[in-house]
Amino acid sequence: MRSYSLIAPAKINLYLEIIGDRADGYHELVMILQSIDLADKIDLRAIGTQSIQVHCEDAEVPQDDSNLAYRAAKLIADNFPERFAQFGGVEINIKKNIPVAAGLAGGSTDAAAVLVGLDMMWQLGLTQPELQDLAAKLGSDVPFCLAGGTAIATGRGEELDPLPSLDSLYVVLAKYRNLAVSTPWAYQTYRSQFGDTYIRDANSLEARAHRVHSGPMVQAILNDNMGEIGKLLYNDLEKVVLPNYPEVLQLRKAFERSGALGTMMSGSGPTVFALCQSEGEAQRILQEVKRAISAPDLGFWVSRLSKHGIQVI
Ligand code: C5P
Repeated sequence: MRSYSLIAPAKINLYLEIIGDRADGYHELVMILQSIDLADKIDLRAIGTQSIQVHCEDAEVPQDDSNLAYRAAKLIADNFPERFAQFGGVEINIKKNIPVAAGLAGGSTDAAAVLVGLDMMWQLGLTQPELQDLAAKLGSDVPFCLAGGTAIATGRGEELDPLPSLDSLYVVLAKYRNLAVSTPWAYQTYRSQFGDTYIRDANSLEARAHRVHSGPMVQAILNDNMGEIGKLLYNDLEKVVLPNYPEVLQLRKAFERSGALGTMMSGSGPTVFALCQSEGEAQRILQEVKRAISAPDLGFWVSRLSKHGIQVI
């Protein structure tokens, strides 16, 4: 076929613990990642010229080779030059629904969709592990975005262990449209302030055991204990982002007062989410926080937790 449409869901972090630094400048993480229904739509179309083109109506999204979706197509083209020559170029159209630079893996999930779409369009027949390897080359969150659902993510974030689905729950997300937090800044600041709390050898047996169990949150998920899951939401990066971004701290406090199951910042922020039992509760909390903070550039979204990664439609 000459065109494919894919759904690319966002993710939130139910848990993010930084357990060590790495020689490559990255950090050893123990995370629990969760897909949500809020998703971009990616359309791929074969074009006559031997080129990769990215189009997106959202002015915040780069349309050049710095776009991760472009880099995903380039990675496939470089790895399979004969297929690129045979099938020609591709136009990537991104319909953006996930807020940009938000800590919700919007760019990573678009890149994951391009990998899945080009695998089909160029008839590569890649296995899941092969797709996951390519995904890890693009970014730490891209492998999870491919697989989706609920998963423990360790290493840089690319080693995944699936967990039972939590897709009966909802989230309210809130983000200031003009606010962005640099992810490298957040990790570097954390390293300089809290590096002395790292497990000394993050590749040790102790660290491995820690990763596999990753504490009470995994138990709460296995027991389907929603109240506990809400209480155990955790993100080390809040320790550096909240003191430096008073607007995010204010949001976080407003959600805390709202009676949700729990609230947390996602990834390196600045999106804050509240976990809710039902859509009705999510709408109630949205209205309450909207009344508490009147800021014209504050955006809200209600989304259901999802068991899906990239889907072809
Ligand atoms: O992998 P990705 O390009 O998405 O990571 C963005 C940035 O986040 C990295 O440049 C790095 O500063 C930080 N990071 C990290 N350790 C990780 C994942 C990301 O330090 N495990």
